[in-house]
Amino acid sequence: MSASLLLTHCTQIVTLRGAVPRRGAAFADPGVIRDGAVLILEGNIAAVGPRGKVEALPEARRAEKLDAGGRIVLPGFVDSHTHLIFPASRAAEYEERIAGTSYEELAHKGGGILSTVRKLRRAPREALKKRANDALQRFAEHGTTTIEAKSGYGLDAASELTILKLQHELRKTQPIEIVSTFLGAHAFPPEYRGAGKRGDDYVEFLVHKLIPAVTREGLAEFCDVFCDRGAFTSKQARKILTAGRACGLVPRLHAEQLAHTGATQLGVALHAASCDHLDKIDRADIRALAKSDTVATLLPGCCFHLGLARYAPARVLIDDGAIVALATDYNPGTSPTLSMAMILSLACTQMRMSPAEGLAAATINAAFALGRHKQIGSIEVGKFADLALFDLDDYREIPYYFGVNHVWLTLKRGKPIYSRSPQ
Ligand code: NIG
Ligand code: FE
Repeated sequence: MSASLLLTHCTQIVTLRGAVPRRGAAFADPGVIRDGAVLILEGNIAAVGPRGKVEALPEARRAEKLDAGGRIVLPGFVDSHTHLIFPASRAAEYEERIAGTSYEELAHKGGGILSTVRKLRRAPREALKKRANDALQRFAEHGTTTIEAKSGYGLDAASELTILKLQHELRKTQPIEIVSTFLGAHAFPPEYRGAGKRGDDYVEFLVHKLIPAVTREGLAEFCDVFCDRGAFTSKQARKILTAGRACGLVPRLHAEQLAHTGATQLGVALHAASCDHLDKIDRADIRALAKSDTVATLLPGCCFHLGLARYAPARVLIDDGAIVALATDYNPGTSPTLSMAMILSLACTQMRMSPAEGLAAATINAAFALGRHKQIGSIEVGKFADLALFDLDDYREIPYYFGVNHVWLTLKRGKPIYSRSPQ
């Protein structure tokens, strides 16, 4: 494809233009242009609007044409919470959970995160890379053009650095943008669990050794902590995130997934980029988020996969003015999906978000959560031409046809990274 491309005959262009970040009533308007066209120059959006207007531009006449055939166009999904690199599925635990053992019980027995950690430490680097590469191809097939990816299945210096370095390599060798987060505080590793070793020693190791090593090599932008029952306490999380910030890492948190621990209030106090999960938040947490710039990132794939009845209170969060985003939480333990469309279906039916709210949460607000809202997350002049075309007539059909992938074409900076039919 040439440096200029005219995407034309788009039944709907769901631009998501407007206020950034989206809050409250502003969520309702996805900025749809009917019968539209998009002009792409050098990977950026040069014009977007009604077809006749865009087609009349001199650059549009010279550009290569791509007929969307009446399909709908959206900004590529921004998946702002994933655990990209892991060695294997945990399908056996899935079966055990169905039979009645809870996620926390499995973790207590040495399964859960630690079973993935044990496997990852033994896995050949190339095998991890291949698995991640395959997943990235599948993200593209599902219309996702940017992901955040966390370490956290290594939990020792060598393995954590391997994960982050692999993410760095993948950034150079495949087209999806990967935003790296250091999650050394995902669980206490086996070597800090035995007699005489205390969790606080691991916190000291993270603060004094691993965080400085990660930042010395420029391997992450964000620092995350799993602050929950059976994981890190608020006090430990504060220490880790403060140390991360001193090294230039922006905080974010796994908060209030399993129990109410105060992680959300900590996140707001630390001006975290996001607090994620939030299934167990209370009214005071919602008020604090609504008054802040901390994004409430909801991960309904976890509740679905774990078979839980209680989802995060998306309706109240939006109505009270919080910045809500949606993400897959792609990981082998709680949410092994990479389909943002499936997450939208869950958000709509289980959390009562409207399709328009869901799309804003999966694009522009997610871009804001990653500090990328000036480049991605909406279809506006000057932004990257990161686009997903769906073989559908109406954007509401994306969540409506749950479990079916309707992506026809995915463009990253104007270049096809997935195409259902040969171009
Ligand atoms: O976001 N809650 C902590 N971390 C992941 C699950 C990781 C795992 O079970 O492997 C999550 O849900
Ligand atoms: Fe997670």
